[in-house]
Amino acid sequence: YVKSTKEILEKASKERYAVGAFNFNNMEFLQAILEAAEEEKAPVIVATSEGAIKYIGKGDIEAGAKLAVEMVRTYAEKLSVPVALHLDHGRDFKIIMAAIKAGYSSVMIDASHLPFEENLRETKRIVEIAHAVGISVEAELGKLKGIEDNVVEKESVLVDPEEAKVFVKETEVDFLAPAIGTSHGAFKFKGEAQLDFERLKKVKEYTQIPLVLHGASMVPQDVVKLANEYGAELSGAKGVPEDMLKKAIELGINKINTDTDLRITFVAYLRKVLSEDKSQIDPRKIFGPVFEQVKEIVKERIRIFGSSGKA
Ligand code: G3H
Ligand code: 13P
Ligand code: NA
Ligand code: ZN
Repeated sequence: YVKSTKEILEKASKERYAVGAFNFNNMEFLQAILEAAEEEKAPVIVATSEGAIKYIGKGDIEAGAKLAVEMVRTYAEKLSVPVALHLDHGRDFKIIMAAIKAGYSSVMIDASHLPFEENLRETKRIVEIAHAVGISVEAELGKLKGIEDNVVEKESVLVDPEEAKVFVKETEVDFLAPAIGTSHGAFKFKGEAQLDFERLKKVKEYTQIPLVLHGASMVPQDVVKLANEYGAELSGAKGVPEDMLKKAIELGINKINTDTDLRITFVAYLRKVLSEDKSQIDPRKIFGPVFEQVKEIVKERIRIFGSSGKA
């Protein structure tokens, strides 16, 4: 049963923990995420990017969104934990509308690349449409680029808390993703990991709504090492350290977007299984042990986020 993202996240905001929002592109990732959530008795958000919708629908966005909803409903029906389906990084109006029509629980409007006023106007437009049909909305402020040493760059890229206050009030958006120094993918920091917690603290203080951390994968070094041992080229991969995630949760992050950790785990164990069982040609026997590991990484993340037992 697909639940309200807003209900899930407002409870998390009140009780000061975070819910994992895990990306999927196919059935196996979805199964692994949902099984992990069920075993941890944790509320969970599953998300598809625009690319995932196109991939699932073979280019047909209506079909992709519909299939995503149907898969999630079919699996979630049997579970005891709340599950929400979210559109991650919606930029294309047509895809956002397709997700709303198909029955997504929430959508993200990512207009953070636009100037503030345009981001505000675009977000407000989506909020009006989505709220009219009971769907909640996430928006983003600032750009996810990581903190550079250059201070001028830093000011222009990270969220401005004063802007966040105006933005939330004007748009009535339900959740906000403030850029505080993370970035997407497996290579997040060139040097030391660094996040702007002062900004985060102010954004929470000024907005009082559930906040979202994008680019939050931890990129576990043991998994990177394993992948590299079996032929991957991922040296220099680096993620957000556990203590920083915990601090971000303390300061008001309630939704933690995670994709890369699942991707790296998938690739590492796929390489391992294929190289250790060279005569295996049954995809189920290959994917079986691989997705057991994906499930384990999701469970670990859920425990770190503090949402175990919160269902
Ligand atoms: O935020 C990005 C997510 O990791 C999804 O990425 O556009 O490659 O599906 P994608
Ligand atoms: P990662 O690349 O750190 O997993 O971030 C995913 C994300 O932010 C999806 O919106
Ligand atoms: Na999102
Ligand atoms: Zn993201």
